[in-house]
Amino acid sequence: MRELAEVRGVDPDKYTIGIGQDKMAVPMMQEDIIAMAANACDKILDEDDKKVIDQIIFATESGVDYSKAAAVYIHELLGIQPYAKAYEMKQACYSATAAIMNACDYVRLRPSRKILVIASDISRYGLKTGGEPTQGAGAIAILISANPSILAIDMDSVSLTRNDFDFWRPDHHPYPLVEGKYSTELYLSMFNQVMAEAERQMPEVLSELQAMVFHTPFTRMGYKALTAYQANESTLLNSSLKDKLVDNWLHIYNDSVVLNRKVGNVYTASLYLSLISLFLYSEELKADERIGLFSYGSGAVAELITGTIQPKYLNAINKEHVQTHLERRTKLSISEYEELFDRVLPDVDNYSLVEEKSSGFGFYLESVQQYRRHYQFRTNDNDNQPIR
Ligand code: HMG
Repeated sequence: MRELAEVRGVDPDKYTIGIGQDKMAVPMMQEDIIAMAANACDKILDEDDKKVIDQIIFATESGVDYSKAAAVYIHELLGIQPYAKAYEMKQACYSATAAIMNACDYVRLRPSRKILVIASDISRYGLKTGGEPTQGAGAIAILISANPSILAIDMDSVSLTRNDFDFWRPDHHPYPLVEGKYSTELYLSMFNQVMAEAERQMPEVLSELQAMVFHTPFTRMGYKALTAYQANESTLLNSSLKDKLVDNWLHIYNDSVVLNRKVGNVYTASLYLSLISLFLYSEELKADERIGLFSYGSGAVAELITGTIQPKYLNAINKEHVQTHLERRTKLSISEYEELFDRVLPDVDNYSLVEEKSSGFGFYLESVQQYRRHYQFRTNDNDNQPIR
């Protein structure tokens, strides 16, 4: 990000301190949202899971087809049992949270079944735009079951919808339309309103929360939300309790954005990348403690959900795996990044191989034939061992 700032004629501290981003993930053409999602799923599912998954819900705002859901490809690539249903959900960066809350209700009624929720996105604003330093890409796979091993999500939550225009992407626009400054104001206003309603509806739960993780379009955003909430004097909580609570959340906040700093905005996946970051990097959190998650999607929908950390939560998230995955990325020069940025899949209906190779192993977009996407799986070139 510092190199990008220099080329853009901006003080590098603006990107790394003012916006709070150190690196930005740039996907190669073979790493579309489906390939990234399939690789994320492959890391968390075992053969028993695949037999009991009833739904695959794909949350994204970078869909590749108006009709066919990306989840249908995942169903085949991962070998999920045939009688599952697969579909896509959209509401800017918020939709994975809607998928998770619906999935929780489903497994509460059917405790032997599971639901696979995927958040996968490529965040693009365009070269030399105000949003450029907040781009990123990635996917998170989440398996919802009645016996969670990481976080037990509470049934009650506080949601809020406001029809507004801070960030939206009308048909045929390659990039979103963004009111950058206004989008941050709307985010803060929605967070404050959700918190005020949470104070009214669930003050006891709120005052138990040991941490608050955020949808993280850039890492300063959650920090701004916490300080704005703390500065808001109108509160239904005891004001010294509120101060102490938010001080705790601020104290732990940096742990929750370690990964987001290195990846950038991942739209639907961003909140859940922050959750993994909190779990992997906070040394203060303990099992049985409760935490809050603030989900925000422009346009705008927000929801505050809460949950209890499960006893063996760290066994279920492989820290080394996450770190190795990010460290395996290859650095692009600014000119390579710019050259790659404007490339799109060839708009032809005959067979075309997708040429730019990603360095990783796993699923990748191999070709597009008559507008049909085809994926392959490759093993690690270094040791020729299949990872599946
Ligand atoms: P900008 O105009 O380039 O930046 O836009 P700025 O001038 O506002 O500066 C940013 C911060 O850097 C400021 O701090 C500056 O003071 C500071 P703040 O006042 O905000 O605390 N700064 C410096 N700090 C240290 N050293 C320096 C220095 N210079 C300046 N030398 C903006 C920034 C984020 C608006 C832009 O990048 C953008 O439009 N991004 C895309 C929109 C976005 O991310 N919005 C966030 C809320 S909306 C959301 O979260 C939803 C979203 O994920 C989409 C979805 O839901 O699908 C985006």
